[in-house]
Amino acid sequence: MVDAVVVYSTRSGSTGRMAKAVAEGLVEGGLDVKVYDLRRSIFEDFKEELEKAKAVVVGTPTHDYMPAYEVNVLLSKMEELNVKGKIGAVFGSYGWSGEAVYEVQRRMRSLGFNVVTDPLRIIEDPDGDGLRRCRELGLAIAGKVKGEAS
Ligand SMILES: Cc1cc2nc3c(=O)[nH]c(=O)nc-3n(C[C@H](O)[C@H](O)[C@H](O)COP(=O)(O)O)c2cc1C
Repeated sequence: MVDAVVVYSTRSGSTGRMAKAVAEGLVEGGLDVKVYDLRRSIFEDFKEELEKAKAVVVGTPTHDYMPAYEVNVLLSKMEELNVKGKIGAVFGSYGWSGEAVYEVQRRMRSLGFNVVTDPLRIIEDPDGDGLRRCRELGLAIAGKVKGEAS
């Protein structure tokens, strides 16, 4: 049983490194986790896991003041799933304006996700401290999932 799914897009790898660290935190928090790079996966491959998971964590860089294309597609496709009440969270790397994570958070809320943390944004490539913050995000989400289950 998958407890949490991390789905992300990355062009130059920074959001991908964040995704790996977020997943490490989720695992450290005791969850069963699957990670999908949206540029290498098709929606049908993980659709069922998204529907069953208690938490969905979305990673997006900011490109031209918007979320990555693949993340926009994912958000549209999630309209056909019942995600109401699932725990949601957002993270992503950016260069200067970094508004994509807030747009994804807004859209996840309108899909019915219970977005439980502020988006985690890191400028360009995450350093050791940035990766630590990603692991902490994962751990915090795991705490919310475990808290709901008890
Ligand atoms: C074509 C392009 C457009 C970008 N547009 C923005 C932008 O509008 N705002 C911003 O904060 N960063 C922008 N960036 C910077 C990226 O968000 C930043 O390099 C980020 O670390 C990329 O994450 P990734 O390695 O996961 O792809 C842009 C980068 C590229 C290549």
